[in-house]
Formats: sequence, C-alpha cells, structure tokens
Amino acid sequence: VTREIWEHARIATMQASGSYGLIEDASIVTENRMIAWVGASAALPADMSVGANQAHDCAGRCITPGLIDSHTHLAYASNRAHEFEMRLAGMDYAEIARQGGGILSTVRATRAATEPDLFAAAQRRLSALLDEGVTTAEIKSGYGLDRETELRQLRVARELGRRNPITIHATYLGLHAVPPEFPDANAYVDFVVSDVLPAVAAEGLADTADAFCDPIAFSPAQTTRFFTAAKALGLRVKLHADQRMPGGGGALAARNLALSADHLEYAQPSDLQAMACAGTVAVLLPGAFYYLRETTRPPIAALRDLGIPIALATDCNPGTSPTTSLLLMLNMACTLFDLSPQEALAGVTRNAARALGIQAQTGTIEIGKRADFVVWNVEDPAELAYAMGASSCAQIVQNGLLVKNTLA
Ligand code: NIG
Ligand code: FE
Repeated sequence: VTREIWEHARIATMQASGSYGLIEDASIVTENRMIAWVGASAALPADMSVGANQAHDCAGRCITPGLIDSHTHLAYASNRAHEFEMRLAGMDYAEIARQGGGILSTVRATRAATEPDLFAAAQRRLSALLDEGVTTAEIKSGYGLDRETELRQLRVARELGRRNPITIHATYLGLHAVPPEFPDANAYVDFVVSDVLPAVAAEGLADTADAFCDPIAFSPAQTTRFFTAAKALGLRVKLHADQRMPGGGGALAARNLALSADHLEYAQPSDLQAMACAGTVAVLLPGAFYYLRETTRPPIAALRDLGIPIALATDCNPGTSPTTSLLLMLNMACTLFDLSPQEALAGVTRNAARALGIQAQTGTIEIGKRADFVVWNVEDPAELAYAMGASSCAQIVQNGLLVKNTLA
C-alpha cells in the first residue's frame, strides 16, 4: 500500500450536522485511495506512521473535505452577455425566453458546437472549479434537447471526469425547455421518454435525471411522466423547483423520492414538509438568486426547523448564474441567505454529497471514505465563507492523489 500522512492540521471533518467537527493538531492517514485514519496527531497509532511513504506538515492550516459542486450546467457553448445587457436595459428573464433567447439561444450554440469545441469550453469552466478545491462536480445536459446533442453533452461530462482529477456526476436534464421543432411540450415529452431517455440509460451516460418545472418550461404532470420513466430505467431524480413562483415543486420532488429539489425561493410549507419526510436535500443557488436580482429568499428558517439538509452549488450556466466560483457561493449564501459559515461549508461537503446520493463515498473526512480533501491557507474554516474571490487553496488530494500542491 501507499501510505501518506498529513499532520499538524486543524481538520474540519464535517462528520456530524451542525458543527465543523473540528479536531485540533490533527492528522489524516491515506492508504491508496482511502482515508485510513483521522484524529489528533498525538493519538496516531505507531503502526500507522511507521510505514508511511510520505509525511506532509500542514503547519496549523485547515483541512476540509474536498468541495462538491452539486448543480452545474457547465457543458455549454458560447455565452449570453448580450442578454445581460438586455436585462440591464429593463427586459426580464421570462420575456427574453419568450422571444427565443434564454435557454434556447444556448441550445442553438451548443447544437452547432463540435464535440472538441464543447469539451474545450467546458474544460475551462471545470478548471476554475478544480483550482478552488472542488473534487466532485455534477454536470447537467439540457442545452441540446435533441438526442445527438444531449448525448454529446453527457459524453463530454464523462470525458471531463476521465481527463481531470475530479469525480463527475452526470445528469440528464431532459426537460429544460421545449425545442422549436416540437409543436408543444407534450410532444417533446413523448420524444424524451420514448427516444432520448432510453438511449441515455442504455449507454450509462447519466447518474441522475432532472427537469425544470415552471410555467415557462414543464408542468407537474409532464415532469411526473418524465420522472416515472427515468426511475423505471434506474435513475434517481432531481428537480429545478419553485424558482420563480410557487408551483408545488418541492412536494413533486419529494413524491418522486428525488435526491434534491433545487432553487426553492418560492417553496411553500407543504413542499418543505414533504421534502423532510422524503429526505430530499434543498440545493440553494445564491448565484442565480443574485444574478436575477430575486428578492424572495428561500425559506431558510423553515428548512432549519424541519432538519432538511441544505446544499449550495454554483448553478454554473450562461443565463442565470455565470460563475465558476463555489467559494464565492459560500460568501453569498451567508450574506444573501443568512447561512452561517459552518452551514455554508456543510452545503458544499456533507450535504452536497447527499444531494448526489454519494454520501457513503465522500463529503466528510471519515475512515473508509475516499481520500478527497483540501489543505487551505486559512487558520479557521469560517475564513472560507468570509473571503470574496480569494484563492486560499494550498493542496488538493483527490481520490488519494495530491493533485494540486502550492506548498512544495
Ligand atoms: O438553473 N432554471 C433553469 N435552468 C437554469 C437556467 C438556464 C439558462 O437560463 O440557460 C437555472 O437557473
Ligand atoms: Fe440549474
């Protein structure tokens, strides 16, 4: 076995909800790809240190689990800076969408892009995430809406995972918008359920399925049809829910035992009760809230009261959240949604893993989990949410390998 030790760190294990699970002057021992031991350096068993191939002195720096971005749309072509200008001149997001802009303008660009071009664009965005300590990222399709382009987006997502030190979770976002070649949403859902979804499942190109339930996108009935078909093919589901107005999205997600319901600015008490019962994670997206200048905040106090796990993600996409900084989302979740820095960090580690159904493998620093962790140039984990646009990542260990090292 290859055994490495990180010592003299302040480790935020994130093992239990409600605290950092801090261990002072602590060590982590990795064996191959796994965490073999974690605890106070003074308690390190002799047999663990004896055969170590390498020891890293963290000199009091903080270690956290590797960050997890549980909601991105980063495999798209072009950008929508001109729509940013239109919105600043007074037009709103729904109006731009009705005029053929919005999601459909990115669909046109993504359909026209070759696979290498799409890969290169996605790689640039993924590299920015990697640089900040992201060791797992979800990537959604949804900018193809025809079979060929949806499969291309998902293949790009898988290929990014093979070529980068990161675990990629791919999501087939089948119901994102109705493409212009279909007469109506029902006809498009017919096509998705009978044609694209079976192809995605047969090629193993997606880990989960997702939909946008909204008056400008798909109804609860259409979403339910898609979810039923996806679950029959063995895919867990996620939902863009209650982003712009109340629509029962949270409850719809919960009825389908969704891993997560995302956005949730307009979720109602009945949605939250259903989510609590089903164990559905609330994924909050402060980048989209900020960029759309939304003023209704997600129901944070109710989420807390009901014990619903809160995750945070970039929602990296060209129309509503053109960001590649997950650390900035920590700051924005605190300033815009009143999360504590501890809740924010849990939102990109422990709870983000649950939003992807991978909490047995990653998301906390625990014996037996994958060795995914980050050494930060900070003394206190609250500094991660406090700083705006700082690059405080000193070392990244992903799947047991030191993949970034600024300390050497
Ligand atoms: O998560 N809400 C729908 N989907 C994206 C926006 C996509 C776009 O505008 O291109 C979101 O906000
Ligand atoms: Fe999204």
